Amino acid sequence: MTGIEQTIDTTALRAGFGSLSSGIAHFDGPGGTQTPDVVAAAMYAALTAPLANRGRANLAERNADDIVVAYRAALGDFLHVDPATVVFGRSTTELTFLFSRTLAAGWSAGDEIVLSRLDHDANVAPWLIAAQRHGLVVRWISLDPETGELNLDDLDAALGPRTRLVAVTAASNLIGTMPDVPAIAERVHAAGALLYVDGVHYSAHRSVDVPALGADLYACSPYKFLGPHCGALTGRADLLEQLHPDKLRPSTEVVPERFELGTLPYELMAGTTAAIEVLAGLVPGDGTRRERLVRSMSVLAGHEERLRGRIEAAVAAWPEVTVHSRARRRTPTLLLTFAGRDAAEVSARLAAENINAPASSFYALEPSRALGLGDAGGLRVGMSPYNNDEDVDRLLAGLDRILH
Ligand SMILES: Cc1ncc(COP(=O)(O)O)c(C=O)c1O
Repeated sequence: MTGIEQTIDTTALRAGFGSLSSGIAHFDGPGGTQTPDVVAAAMYAALTAPLANRGRANLAERNADDIVVAYRAALGDFLHVDPATVVFGRSTTELTFLFSRTLAAGWSAGDEIVLSRLDHDANVAPWLIAAQRHGLVVRWISLDPETGELNLDDLDAALGPRTRLVAVTAASNLIGTMPDVPAIAERVHAAGALLYVDGVHYSAHRSVDVPALGADLYACSPYKFLGPHCGALTGRADLLEQLHPDKLRPSTEVVPERFELGTLPYELMAGTTAAIEVLAGLVPGDGTRRERLVRSMSVLAGHEERLRGRIEAAVAAWPEVTVHSRARRRTPTLLLTFAGRDAAEVSARLAAENINAPASSFYALEPSRALGLGDAGGLRVGMSPYNNDEDVDRLLAGLDRILH
């Protein structure tokens, strides 16, 4: 760039979302973003063209095969990995259950795993269940409620010769904290263990570089970044080759298909590719799709951070509001609670003004409890690419009215 700050043209972007004509201000992106019309159109096109099971023998087979190849290439660019390591899944939850079951089948009683108090339950419960089934020892990395940061001294204390795997999030869906995953990876690998990273929240807000993060396995969910409702996982090629999930006898042993049980949903794959194209085109410019993604996601981060900064600056003047999102490095996702007022009530009153900011712990049970919020959590205000200053004006005016 040549000194000119690039920004997201939200007026042009928003025109491409039929759902945004509802007039709702959506701060509920961390639960799932709105869907661009072109993503829905790609899914419609996949389903209304001749379509059969994958193959090259006829047009219908070739259409399915082309969709799968394009999907893996798109996620390869999005995650900066070899397309041949991209595994489709129904959701990150389902993929994590699949990989926890498959990995744990090769471990012995007394082997150890390390989990984090920052994580969504999708990266906790599957490992706890595997631990119970196989007699694994579970160790924890604690969360400091004052700073919103993971206590990495706990990681050092937990790692040992029997540690098989560490499961940690790249960003918290509750408070936005982005742990230093490369530093964690270095320690985990020095101990000879694997690192499983939940990239669901992170992938919506930063350009992802899985090898740079040092994740051995990394899962994300396209419906959090403008795509359809499904999950995806990538892993180190040599690791994927070593893993053998339960599968049907006639289905292929080839990676990544080995991990994809049953017939693939081509329409979801086509929609995911289209969503990645939308992200790559958030700002104009030339280059490969990977280069355009890196640039767009960097501009997106600046856009979302600016809006988040406006909200934080405003609520800082209201003593009855507690902001639990405090980490040094974090996504534009704010968790708020209110003195003398239920977050659920505030959320309901905002909804009555067509402002969507839900209240919950959002399946992030461990961090909600660590923050002293029990299982109730708080009001979550999350930014998405299509949010604009008018959304923020409406949110702040709404909160002002409700609280004062
Ligand atoms: C951080 C994080 N991890 C995992 C998940 C679960 O993803 P999925 O719905 O694809 O199973 C979510 C969903 O909200 C999430 O926010």
